[in-house]
Amino acid sequence: MARGKLPSTRRQNSGSNGKAHNASDQPAKGMSAESRQMVRLWLHMLAGLVFAMVIVGGATRMTGSGLSITEWRPLMGAFPPLNEQDWWKEFMKYQSIPQYQILNYDISLEEFKTLYWWEWGHRQLGRFVGVVFGLGFLFLVIRRHLRGMHIVYAALLGCLGGTQAFVGWIMVASGLKPGMTAVEPIRLMAHLVLAACIFALLLIYAIKLKPRVERIRPGFVWAGWGLLLGMMLQIAFGALVAGNHAGLIYNTWPLMGEHFLPDSLFYPLRAIGMEALFDDVTLVQFNHRFWAYVLLALTLWHAWAVSRAHKGTSANRRANALVWMLSAQAGIGIATLVMVAPMWLALIHQGFAILVLAMFAVHAAAGQMERAEPAPAPAGKRKRS
Ligand code: HEM
Repeated sequence: MARGKLPSTRRQNSGSNGKAHNASDQPAKGMSAESRQMVRLWLHMLAGLVFAMVIVGGATRMTGSGLSITEWRPLMGAFPPLNEQDWWKEFMKYQSIPQYQILNYDISLEEFKTLYWWEWGHRQLGRFVGVVFGLGFLFLVIRRHLRGMHIVYAALLGCLGGTQAFVGWIMVASGLKPGMTAVEPIRLMAHLVLAACIFALLLIYAIKLKPRVERIRPGFVWAGWGLLLGMMLQIAFGALVAGNHAGLIYNTWPLMGEHFLPDSLFYPLRAIGMEALFDDVTLVQFNHRFWAYVLLALTLWHAWAVSRAHKGTSANRRANALVWMLSAQAGIGIATLVMVAPMWLALIHQGFAILVLAMFAVHAAAGQMERAEPAPAPAGKRKRS
């Protein structure tokens, strides 16, 4: 098939009849079906663990536990305090930071332990993800399931994971500064968005290793990637709402107070400039609401257009699912706001956002046009050393 030329409608949509296009049945870049399966299993396990990290991270933030460990010790920090003396040492360190002195000056050692266990659990889960990544990577390379450029892609994912741990510490460090009782919202945003990117990349990579590749119009493929970016932006806006505690004001919907556009909406932008986009509570909440409507409208339009061109295909079903999932997410967001962000609901809102993101990522990656490659010669099959 000539490059850039669209196949016939029947063959465009592998999902419609459940059969894969012949060219895409061939192992990507000489990777055997078994290797692809092994790597995909590993990627899915990692994605599941990253999802769990996001949930535990959210609970850590909402229980106010994020600053209870005041040091970054990636290796030795794996061992929690084991006796009363060590617990007191940790508690004394916590007592030296502003959050304790301003907010938590009356907590007991037992209450401190609860905060500590949340933060330790979050960090420990991070270490566990690192171990699963590292051992899985070594196994797959040694057994030659990962070869050539795939080693580079997987290693880059690992580097992103390491960067995420560092960004996590940079975030915590911002909350230890004089006068601070919580982390800086912009750093919280960076931490959540990077987690979301890693999660999406794991899924995208796994989809790319699937034998079935759909062929939908390039315009829809671009739209899929655009919507994924739009979803990332919405997650960033959500993190700013959470980080600024902006869910505790304007607890009405559809109006913010008495207006759709609050009176003073743009004043902070004029007064303090672009910084207001990250830390003005009114603006931050407005952006999160407004972008939800825009994203929902664009997703609806996309689903309608895909259903006209590729009716009955898996792309069609996925685009429809996006509309339903995003609408549900908006509904959960509205409930979270109106109920003044109770922890259980805020956690559902955060967790479901990651599931919706998964759907956006899968939709974008699965609809990607792929150049038909000639079948590799039998000699190109996986060699074992
Ligand atoms: C439809 C797409 C939406 C997505 C993908 C989304 C996603 C998110 C995310 C990722 C967070 C950060 C959670 C955290 O870090 O703990 C968040 C927070 C929040 N969102 Fe949304 N959201 C959406 C719509 C809405 C809507 C329509 C509303 C209300 C009108 C809303 C209200 C809130 C509130 C109040 C918070 C802060 C919760 C807290 O304090 O923990 N969201 N959102």
